[in-house]
Amino acid sequence: MPALAPSGRTAAAATLGAVAATCAAYYYYHRYYKHRCRAAAVIRAFHRDGIAVVRGFASASECREMLSSMDALVEEWDPKETTSIFKTDASQSAAQGKDDYFMTSGDAVRFFLEPGAMDEASGALLAPKQEALNKVGHALHVYVPVFAGYAQSAKVRALVRSLGWQAPDLVQSMYIFKQPRIGGEVTPHQDSCFLRTDPPSCIGLWLALEDATMTNGCLWARPGSHAEPIRRHFAKQPDGTMGFDERQPAHEWPSAEGKIPAGATPDSLGFVPLLCKAGDLVLIHGQVDHLSLPNTSGKSRHTFQLHMVEGEAAGAKWHPKNWLQYPAGKAFPKFSPESQA
Ligand code: FE2
Repeated sequence: MPALAPSGRTAAAATLGAVAATCAAYYYYHRYYKHRCRAAAVIRAFHRDGIAVVRGFASASECREMLSSMDALVEEWDPKETTSIFKTDASQSAAQGKDDYFMTSGDAVRFFLEPGAMDEASGALLAPKQEALNKVGHALHVYVPVFAGYAQSAKVRALVRSLGWQAPDLVQSMYIFKQPRIGGEVTPHQDSCFLRTDPPSCIGLWLALEDATMTNGCLWARPGSHAEPIRRHFAKQPDGTMGFDERQPAHEWPSAEGKIPAGATPDSLGFVPLLCKAGDLVLIHGQVDHLSLPNTSGKSRHTFQLHMVEGEAAGAKWHPKNWLQYPAGKAFPKFSPESQA
């Protein structure tokens, strides 16, 4: 085959370059189109069901960074400074409402034990501290750089804005461990019960840092229940303790509010399981009914959960009887201007 003349080689290279550029443009357009379609489907699902899953929202390295950051915090934590046990059953208002360590944790990083992890009479831990925690909260997004970086990321901001939140306050974050075998049940509830604004405006961003399965306590939600009224409010009582105020007459509540009735199962009550891979994000409307069952497996189910409400600039008012209150004169964090990048 004769060698191409210099002008022939130039023309062939130009043709190859044009083909490569067209392929690249097609590839990126296809990726962008797929991304746009997926984003639109998530928004539709969220508004229709009150719940939606964004697959692969966080990368494997983001999940690893959050897991190892929490490892380091737990390593530093001295269990002797904590005797607080986190409960969501009928004893919740008694357990948390009189607990100053919990009640002042909105603007701090505090450690809460699983009910089965401590001998309540002696205060002795019954498991190694790495396996004894129920959760760490409630201002990781303020004080711990890895979690703050995620909460303030451009993708979190863009997602929340795309769902309709205009000027949200980032009011609460929690790292939940759902420990192997002792990770407890979270009874059916609406998040707006605990994070009340008038009008209601709560949204939860539930990020799986490990796979969430049927045996390690995945999330369950009742699609469409976000259209139901807010049933009760975990509110400060006149004597200073916390309790549940009814916002809807109790006889109108679904039978599972606060407790799955004996003999019932989540699916018999209309809940569906939300199986997740590490990195998947579940969006939870503040009024949607949701729960998780105990972890009966040998694997943990770590999640990072971020809650926002609409701010006063968008017409929502934080309720003065909510458990979570910042010190006088201090405002909840918002998205920083850098998160627009
Ligand atoms: Fe919740």
